[in-house]
Amino acid sequence: MKWESKTSVAFLVIMSVLFLILSSTTEAQNSLQSVPGKRIRECFDRNWMFHKGDIAIKYTIKAGKYGGLTDTNVNVITDESTVIDYTDVNKPTAFKPADWQKVDLPHDWCIEGTFLNDNSLGSQPAATGYLAIGIGYYRKEFELSETDKGKKISIEFDGIFRNSTVWVNGHLMGNHQSGYIPSYYDLTDVLRYGKEGNVMLVRVDARTFEGWWYEGCGIYRHTWLVKTDRLHVARFGTYITTPLVSEIKADVDIKTTLKNEYKEARNFTLISKITDNKNIVIDTRSITQSIAPLSQIEITQIGLIQRPLLWSPETPNLYKVLTEVNEKGNVVDTYETTFGVRTIEINRDGFFLNGKLYPVKGTANHQDFAGLGVALPDKIIEYKLKLLKEMGSNGYRCAHNPPTQELLDACDRLGVLAVDENRILSGTEDNLKDLATLIYRDRNHPSVFMWCMENEEPIEGTEIGARLMRTMVGTTHTIDPSRPVTAAMNHGWNDGGYSDVLDVVGYNYGDKRSQYVNDHEKYPQRKMFVTECTSFVSTRGEYEINKEKGYVSNIGPFTPDWGPEPGKDWEQIVLYPYMGGSFVWTGFDYRGEPTPYLWPCVSSHFGIMDICGFPKDGYFAYKAAWTGTPLVHIFPHWNWQGRDGKPIKVYAYTNCEETELFLNGNSIGKKKSIPFTKQEWELVYKPGKLEARGYNKGRIVAKDVVETATSPAQIDLKSDCNTLKADGCDVAVLRVTIKDARGRVVPVADNHVKFSIEGPGRIIGTGNGDPSSHEPDKASQRKAFNGFCLVLVQSDRTAGEIIVKASSETLVSADIILKTK
Ligand code: GAL
Repeated sequence: MKWESKTSVAFLVIMSVLFLILSSTTEAQNSLQSVPGKRIRECFDRNWMFHKGDIAIKYTIKAGKYGGLTDTNVNVITDESTVIDYTDVNKPTAFKPADWQKVDLPHDWCIEGTFLNDNSLGSQPAATGYLAIGIGYYRKEFELSETDKGKKISIEFDGIFRNSTVWVNGHLMGNHQSGYIPSYYDLTDVLRYGKEGNVMLVRVDARTFEGWWYEGCGIYRHTWLVKTDRLHVARFGTYITTPLVSEIKADVDIKTTLKNEYKEARNFTLISKITDNKNIVIDTRSITQSIAPLSQIEITQIGLIQRPLLWSPETPNLYKVLTEVNEKGNVVDTYETTFGVRTIEINRDGFFLNGKLYPVKGTANHQDFAGLGVALPDKIIEYKLKLLKEMGSNGYRCAHNPPTQELLDACDRLGVLAVDENRILSGTEDNLKDLATLIYRDRNHPSVFMWCMENEEPIEGTEIGARLMRTMVGTTHTIDPSRPVTAAMNHGWNDGGYSDVLDVVGYNYGDKRSQYVNDHEKYPQRKMFVTECTSFVSTRGEYEINKEKGYVSNIGPFTPDWGPEPGKDWEQIVLYPYMGGSFVWTGFDYRGEPTPYLWPCVSSHFGIMDICGFPKDGYFAYKAAWTGTPLVHIFPHWNWQGRDGKPIKVYAYTNCEETELFLNGNSIGKKKSIPFTKQEWELVYKPGKLEARGYNKGRIVAKDVVETATSPAQIDLKSDCNTLKADGCDVAVLRVTIKDARGRVVPVADNHVKFSIEGPGRIIGTGNGDPSSHEPDKASQRKAFNGFCLVLVQSDRTAGEIIVKASSETLVSADIILKTK
């Protein structure tokens, strides 16, 4: 009998009900460190070799002594005449890494390329940000100790873009198409232990695309080698829910799937400890029971948390379940699951978090960032979320694909509500398997409040679309009945029964057709959410349209006809809270999808912030709408040479009741604010100081000033942190500002800035937010764009001091010291 069918036949569900009592006020009893670490999850990111471009692979199958296949080697032909036997590590000299480069993961080779306006590149050059896609190979040699023999050893790739094929020691392990879903291979039977060593080869074929934005190329997320006992918690094998929550207590339902990969039955005890992240308050054990050979079983345990600390964006309290599999008194496997206690509900009145109406202030985002492409160190993932939170946002839509695990971990930790999104509307076996992997992987995150099945797929609103969606919703509900399912539909679809299949109907840009109100009345059962809105385009620091350069103004008039101006979208949620909340397209600019102009523009302008995270003017419209802090922001800048005496318009985003504008001390007039609408004054331009004062109840509560700067004179360098972990992963984000001699930002400066670095760190990327910049991101220099640029510094694995210096020919340079520990 095949292993798969044996597993399914032997799949048992054992309900073992235990009561765990957790009191959040209990003193420290056990330290988290006391959990024995039997399971090893090793980061497998270091020391890979990378080969860009295709290579011919030749399989040599050697007949063994007894006529069986004892070894299969993969040979690489780098040109017609050379055959490199590169998996046979017994012949280490056979691998000649001349055209291979040493890389650490996460790695995106696409971002290292040159911008080319050339359609012969294959797919859609504009969509990919005019960077060439292609084929690449990764190769890694690694040793395993003799003591690993007998363990289950697997490899987990969190994300490879895309179509990846994996060989280990010449054995073909498999192929995985999706660029966003993790792939996993059980390597146990093909590994070699001791000095002999192992070779892993990964072929990545990124020539086809999955979306219409920059998707990158390569093993761009983390990779893990997982070693466990043959009796262990299955992959993504826990499911923690809190079916009943009140201020007084929370019931915790813990489901654990155990896998026995021994050829004989095993007896085990399952211990689940709930911790409040500081203390293990209680541990308990199941009765000892037996698990059949080569089978898996699900155990249910029930716990109770007294006076639970609820999870919300304002209070991101987390708990953990520490799982131990115990056999004859020995811990054979351990597993850790983070969860949160909170209730979510979407009904006809809106979105409710912990029983209270909680409109989601969200942004939709693709995954890339300046200097890095899609290969983001964890720190940058967190950095982006923090910038969004500072703006007042509490929601993140993972557009239009499954995110990396670290993003959801950060959402849990920082307090951000996430819509977790599947890429493709499809019911094929492979795609449903991918969807299932996504749900299994992410269903414990308290931040995830809704699953999104697809975005604007052309077959929305058709009968076939509805059938596929029904299958996908069914798959999702089976694995996670605790969250609603939506789809982000182009204006919401009412045809073909498509919308009826969903728990929540997702509206992309429904406002311009008054669909929110009309559909809410027309469909009395329908629950609704604004999955996407706005799409306002603006280039940071630009106040005129420049088609040649590909720039769009922050003032307008270019607003796509499918979305309103920044901030206006929130008015709709205030008026119609039953829409649950909204996700602005987008929080950050991203590569690809240049709109409205193509080349030389290589990235989008939809962001509230540019691709470096520098705020555009629209940022303040959201900050005004989403935070209670009184705010006034005026624009444009005040450096208009040659415009003296000419009329100019000045605008303000504010949440104050009234705003007064002053030019060089003289009042231009006080205006009553219209909520969610930008204020406007017309005046005559004169260089100097423009000041706006915001008033509430007649008292000044906020101010903003823009001043005419003189010529660039100095560099200002600021880091988001002073200390880095000396772990080879941590990153400091250094913001460069070009200032005049009096320390005022020069808003039109484009000085060329060079970076040098000393000490245990390296520059991993630069950026400036110019959507038409064709400078390489992987460099140690960058032109400023409208006064700003950015450099990213990553630590090495030695502690010490990193000194980064920024200089430019005519400017006073700046340096900064970062400590690494
Ligand atoms: C939406 C789409 C996004 C993006 C946006 C641009 O319809 O979902 O991916 O293309 O339009 O406005």
